[in-house]
Amino acid sequence: MTLLLTGATGKTGRYIAQSLSDRGVHARVLIRDPAAAAWVRELGMEPVIADMADASTLGAALAGVEQALLLAANSPGQVPMEKGFIDAAVASGVRRIVKYSAISAGGDEDYRFARWHGEAERHLFASGLDWSVVRPGYFMQNFLMSADSIRAEGRFYLPACDEPVSLVDVRDAADVTVACLLDRAQDGRIRTVTGAESLTMHEVAARMTRALGRNIAYVPLPAQDFIAAMTGAGAPDWLAGGMVEFFAGASRGTRDHLSGCVQRLLGREPIGLDRFLADHAGAFTP
Ligand SMILES: NC(=O)c1ccc[n+]([C@@H]2O[C@H](COP(=O)([O-])OP(=O)(O)OC[C@H]3O[C@@H](n4cnc5c(N)ncnc54)[C@H](OP(=O)(O)O)[C@@H]3O)[C@@H](O)[C@H]2O)c1
Repeated sequence: MTLLLTGATGKTGRYIAQSLSDRGVHARVLIRDPAAAAWVRELGMEPVIADMADASTLGAALAGVEQALLLAANSPGQVPMEKGFIDAAVASGVRRIVKYSAISAGGDEDYRFARWHGEAERHLFASGLDWSVVRPGYFMQNFLMSADSIRAEGRFYLPACDEPVSLVDVRDAADVTVACLLDRAQDGRIRTVTGAESLTMHEVAARMTRALGRNIAYVPLPAQDFIAAMTGAGAPDWLAGGMVEFFAGASRGTRDHLSGCVQRLLGREPIGLDRFLADHAGAFTP
C-alpha cells in the first residue's frame, strides 16, 4: 500500500513524516521545492515534486496510492486546491484520505479558516472515499510568530481577547494524525485535538514570564490596529483578517473547549505550554 504525505515540510507535517519514519513506515512525500528531496530521502521516503494547487501535476504523486494525508497551508485558494486534490485522488483510485483541518470546522465555522476547512471536509465526506479528519485547536507554535517582539520588547501583540483559548502543541496534533493514518478504526471519525488547558493571553504572558525569567506582556490590539500592524509587517490581509475573526470568536467564549483526544487516543498527557516554552526558549530569548 502506498501512502502519500502532503504538507510534510510544514510545522505539523515534518513531525508526522519523522514519526512515520521512526516507525519504519515508508511513504511517498509530495513536495513543491526540489531542495526538500534530500531531507525526504534521509527519512527513507520517496520524494515526488508536485503542486497541489495544480491538479495536472498530481498524476505521478497519486499513482498507485491507497491512502493520502491532505494537509495544506491556509490560503484564499485553499478550498479549490483541497477539492481538486480530493477529486484527483478519487480519479486515481485512492481509497482513503486523512484530512488535517481546524477546530470549529463543521461547527459554528465563525472564522474563515474553519469555513474553508468545513467546505473541503464536506467535499471529502461526499467523495465516496474512506476518511478520517483531524481538527486541531490553536497552535502553541503560533507564538513563534511573535518571537521577534518577545525577544526585542518583551511583548506580544494579538487581537484583544480576555477569554481563554485552548492551545495545542503541533507535536500532539501530529501524533493524532499519525494514529489516524495507521489505524483504520479511525475511519469516519473526527478527532478534535487540544491540549489539557485553556488560557487567556494574559495567562500565556504570565507563563512566559515565569519560563523565560523576564517580564513578558500581552498587548491586546483593536481589530483594525492588529490588521494594520500585521499587513504593515508584510502579512497578507486575509491572514490578519482570519486571526481577528478567530479571536473575536474566542471573545464570545467559544474557544475554551478541551477535547481529551490526546489522552484517549494516545494514552498520554498532551504537551503543556510550559514544556512548549522550555523547548523553544532559545527563540524567545534575546
Ligand atoms: N495555526 C493554527 O493555530 C492552526 C490550528 C488548527 C489548524 N490549522 C491548520 O493547519 C494547516 C497548516 O498546518 P501547518 O501550520 O502544520 O502547515 P504549514 O507550516 O503552514 O505548512 C504548510 C505545508 O503545506 C505545503 N503546501 C502549501 N501549499 C502547497 C501546494 N500548493 N502544493 C503542495 N504543498 C503545499 C507547504 O509546502 P511548502 O514547504 O512547499 O510551502 C507546507 O509543507 C492549515 O490548514 C491550518 O488551517 C492551523
